[in-house]
Amino acid sequence: MSDSVRRHDGGSDRPATGAAGRDGEGSETPVRPPDPDGLPVLGNVHAIAADGLDFYERRAAERGGVARYDVFGTESYLLTDPDAIRRVLVEDHATYVKGEMPREQLGNLLGDGLFLAEGKRWREQRTAVRSAFFRERVDEYGDAMAEHARRTVDGWDDGDAVDLHEAATEYAFSVLAEGLLGDDIEGERETVRAAAESITERFDMRRLASFLPEWVPTPTNRRYRRRLDALRETLRDLVDDRRAAGPPADPGSADDLLGTLVAAAELGAIDDDELVDNAVTFLFAGHETSALGLTYTLHALATHPDIQERVRREVAAFDDDPTAAEVRDCPALTAAINEALRLYPPVHTFFREPTEPVTLGGYRIPAGVVVSLSPWVVHRDGRWWDDPETYRPERWLHESPSGAVSVGDEAPGPAVGERPEYAYFPFGGGPRHCIGMRFARQELRLATATLLRRVRLEAVDGDLELRASANTRPAGPVRVRVRELAAEMEADDP
Ligand code: HEM
Repeated sequence: MSDSVRRHDGGSDRPATGAAGRDGEGSETPVRPPDPDGLPVLGNVHAIAADGLDFYERRAAERGGVARYDVFGTESYLLTDPDAIRRVLVEDHATYVKGEMPREQLGNLLGDGLFLAEGKRWREQRTAVRSAFFRERVDEYGDAMAEHARRTVDGWDDGDAVDLHEAATEYAFSVLAEGLLGDDIEGERETVRAAAESITERFDMRRLASFLPEWVPTPTNRRYRRRLDALRETLRDLVDDRRAAGPPADPGSADDLLGTLVAAAELGAIDDDELVDNAVTFLFAGHETSALGLTYTLHALATHPDIQERVRREVAAFDDDPTAAEVRDCPALTAAINEALRLYPPVHTFFREPTEPVTLGGYRIPAGVVVSLSPWVVHRDGRWWDDPETYRPERWLHESPSGAVSVGDEAPGPAVGERPEYAYFPFGGGPRHCIGMRFARQELRLATATLLRRVRLEAVDGDLELRASANTRPAGPVRVRVRELAAEMEADDP
């Protein structure tokens, strides 16, 4: 990947001429950012389809913190200044909606579920389901997360070259499907799996055909429609069964996410369509993202044996496989994951639409355009990250005078000067930050800890090659060689 990824110094962050002061607080009239410099009608779509990550990085490097580009005539602005990102996500969040673009692409899939809902409906849904993601509830999924990791490693033999992406996708699918449907997953696994695979394929932005609307009858689109209809029907049947069995009175006391949604519907907080939309939303938002986070964490550890050893020593100190609470207290493990999510954020870019004209980074941005926020670009910005393209978990570790080591999940201490809060935002930010963040962090910790207690991972392919799809996908298999620790110990001690 290093060939295709260019370093940048963030470029000029300020408009060249006629600029107002920061965020419009000046005497002069703010200007529009320079033109996108793309083809008529298509805009910059070819460059994005060829290598979106490289395109975003180059655009930010050449044009600074607010860089215009176009996709099929849609005016878009890539925002890479952390303070401006904070304003969009936090202070001024009420001035922005998710907007037309995500709705056009994902509306038929996610309907009016949490990911796409706006305003009052979004707030009511978020309130209705938030208790499912409280720490005590997420802790309860810990045993299943560790058990699925044991099953993954049980399927490996000493010396195998395994594709981490395939293994992590299967792992994250099993964890999420069980978290969503509980015991009901047993009977429905194939329907859910087929739909999840089709969703991933349909939104594979590495293929030009994925830019076509869903009604164009490509084989991928037809398969996707069929499998999604089957998933929705299955979910509706399961909801009927749960109702018949008597749902929990309170969303916070359900055993799984579907139970939370059914209880929320019984209370009138969401309607039946929103219930199914949200079940699909969790599957879509929580499956591939977590799989990618785990793939990149394990690959980074395979290519950095010294760091892998440090993490292993930490997790091997427990008598048994550590619990959800125990892995929270593992600074080297947490730092290894934080750093993988920095260098390889599973969500490379997400989007907002201003509902009125705004001023960002001194530029005038009209209402109704696409504002793109890119963890990929910001996480690799040399202004905030020393040696940004190097995997260096130590940057997350703080050593106290007594020698105790700790790590911050959400508020890293700056390793290079003063780092703004939104120089790191793999889970988004503000009121619409990822609701599954705790769930995801916990499965990454438990899977990594459980695996490293049993196997050593060795690099096979070296550099990762990544592509911008709907998420940050690997260009091909991510292979590592597995060495069983038990086999190594036997060899050492014949
Ligand atoms: C490493 C794994 C994950 C990453 C990197 C990630 C990243 C993100 C990001 C960046 C957003 C914000 C999008 C935006 O503001 O437009 C988001 C939102 C969301 N995520 Fe995640 N996510 C992960 C795992 C999960 C999991 C496991 C679930 C569910 C169990 C989940 C469910 C959601 C939902 C429902 C939203 C929309 C929240 C709202 O708008 O209120 N995510 N995620």
